[in-house]
Amino acid sequence: MSLLDVRNLTKSFATGRDLLGRRTGWTHAVKDVSFTLDPGECLAVVGESGAGKSTVGRMVLRLIEPDSGSVEFESEDVLAASSGRMRGLRRGMQMIFQDPHSSLDPRMTVHDAVIEPLVVHTDIDRDTRRRRARELLDKVGIGSRYLGRYPAELSGGQLQRVAIARALTLEPKLIVCDEPVAALDVSVRAQVLNLLRDLQEELGLAYLFVCHDLALIEVIADRVLVMRSGEVVESGTVEQIYRDPAQEYTRRLLDAIPVPVPRTARVV
Ligand SMILES: Nc1ncnc2c1ncn2[C@@H]1O[C@H](COP(=O)(O)OP(=O)(O)OP(=O)(O)O)[C@@H](O)[C@H]1O
Ligand SMILES: [Mg+2]
Repeated sequence: MSLLDVRNLTKSFATGRDLLGRRTGWTHAVKDVSFTLDPGECLAVVGESGAGKSTVGRMVLRLIEPDSGSVEFESEDVLAASSGRMRGLRRGMQMIFQDPHSSLDPRMTVHDAVIEPLVVHTDIDRDTRRRRARELLDKVGIGSRYLGRYPAELSGGQLQRVAIARALTLEPKLIVCDEPVAALDVSVRAQVLNLLRDLQEELGLAYLFVCHDLALIEVIADRVLVMRSGEVVESGTVEQIYRDPAQEYTRRLLDAIPVPVPRTARVV
C-alpha cells in the first residue's frame, strides 16, 4: 500500500488585477499531477523555476488548497479532512522549507522551537520534552549547548538542522522537503543532504524532495518526477532519468549540472 497517493492535482492562481480589482488572468501552476510514494521512499520533484514544484509540495500538506484532484495519506482522504482531523494528519506529514531563517520564529529558543509540536499536539510533561529536545538535536548533530540559543545566533546550516529536528519531533512518516539545501552555503549543502539521507534510512522516512538541482538528487532520491509548466513531463527511477532521459527538457536540466562525474565516482 502506498503511503501517499496523489491523483490529478490541479491549481490555478489568479494573476494581475485591473484598476477595478477584477482578475485579469490565471496561472495554471499545476495541471493534473499524479504520483504515489511508498513508505521509506524518496521521490524527487525537479524542474525549472516556476514549474509548479513547491505548489505540489504544499498541496500535499494542504498548505495550499487544490482546485481539484485528490491526496490520500495512508488511504485517508486528506482534502476531505476536518480541521481537527487535519491536525492529526499533520503529525504524520511535516515540511522543511528552503530558508530556515524564515521558517523558525526568531523569538523562540532552539529548545522551544524543537519541542513546540509536542506542546501543541501532546500532553507530554516538561522533563520528557526537554529530554526529547536533547535527543533530537543530538540526532541532527547540534550539541545541547545550543538549547537556549536563538536563531540569530546560529549559522544557516545549524538552523536548517534545527528545522529538521523540529520536523522530526512528532515522528512523521513523510517529510516534504522544499529545496532544503538551496539557501545554504555550498560548503554545508552536502552535510545537510547526507544528514537527511541518514535520517531517512534510520527512521524509515519518506521524502517528497522538491529540488531544481539534479546533481543533488542522485544522492538521495529513488524516483524522479520531472515537471514543466505545471505538468509532469517525465518520471522514472534516478538511474533511468540519468542514463536515458526521454525528454530534451530533462536532458537540458541534466546538462546544467556543473561537473558531470560518473555516478559511481561521485563523492558528496
Ligand atoms: N500564491 C501564488 N499566487 C500567484 N501565483 C503563484 C502563487 N504561487 C505560485 N504561483 C505561480 O505558480 C507557478 C508555479 O510556482 P511554484 O512556486 O510552484 O514553482 P516552483 O517550481 O516551486 O519554482 P521555484 O523553483 O522557483 O521555486 C509560477 O508561475 C508561480 O508564479
Ligand atoms: Mg519552489
